[in-house]
Amino acid sequence: GLMRELKGIDVMELELKHQLGIKKVIIVPGDSDESPLVKGELGRACALCMKKLLSGKNIIAVTGGSTMAAVAERLSTNHHHEELLFVPARGGVGEDVANQANTICSNMAKNTDSKHRVLYVPDQVSSEIYESFIKEPDIHEVLNLIQSASMVIHGIGDAITMAERRKSNPEIKQKLESGKAVGEAFGYYFNEEGEIVHKVLTIGLQLEDLAHIPNVIAVAGGASKAKAIKAYLKKAPSSTILITDEGVAKRLLKG
Ligand code: F6P
Repeated sequence: GLMRELKGIDVMELELKHQLGIKKVIIVPGDSDESPLVKGELGRACALCMKKLLSGKNIIAVTGGSTMAAVAERLSTNHHHEELLFVPARGGVGEDVANQANTICSNMAKNTDSKHRVLYVPDQVSSEIYESFIKEPDIHEVLNLIQSASMVIHGIGDAITMAERRKSNPEIKQKLESGKAVGEAFGYYFNEEGEIVHKVLTIGLQLEDLAHIPNVIAVAGGASKAKAIKAYLKKAPSSTILITDEGVAKRLLKG
């Protein structure tokens, strides 16, 4: 019955938390690969988790992707008068507009009656352009806001899926293939050992910055992402909270 299933998920959450060595795991029933409704449930679970953690003034850094878009849809006005400011975690990592962090931050702000900032940076910046960009007062200000974020919420993707979605050039795809990249988060690509195989050059949050951010929430589901999630979490701070689905949990607990 339902109780048994709920208990099953409780046990899986604890087992997975121990296996991955992170702060907390929240599992929603189902598999996002099989039903889009499950992605909505991931969004809902994340919105709930955020609500519990947020109080007072908060800067929340957000990445792109369809899972973060689902989180935005599930956020609603907070009645505790928290002051929220949503900022994109990193500059352009080559997504469609709907999946861009700028768009998602704007939706999150709209749904919570709060504020957001944008970060317009081209995908591939030369070091010259990079240097002049970060001197732009507007950009500089957003970069400072990112550094003082109290929460980061982010997606995790399969490496090859992400390289294709970003229309990465053949050289990069070759690099990912020979480096056996399996996972991607924040524009970093990881192999199964959690080593960085490739990094998209852009401004904003760098992986090492995560260590200083009190609340880090990773949201990713669908059995096809199991390897990616495991790989990234080898590198992730142990303070990470993972919100995932049964499809991922079953695969990781089996292997
Ligand atoms: O491109 C932004 C990003 O957060 C990636 O870092 C991540 O791999 C991907 O989106 C996840 O996208 P989705 O939620 O659509 O699978």
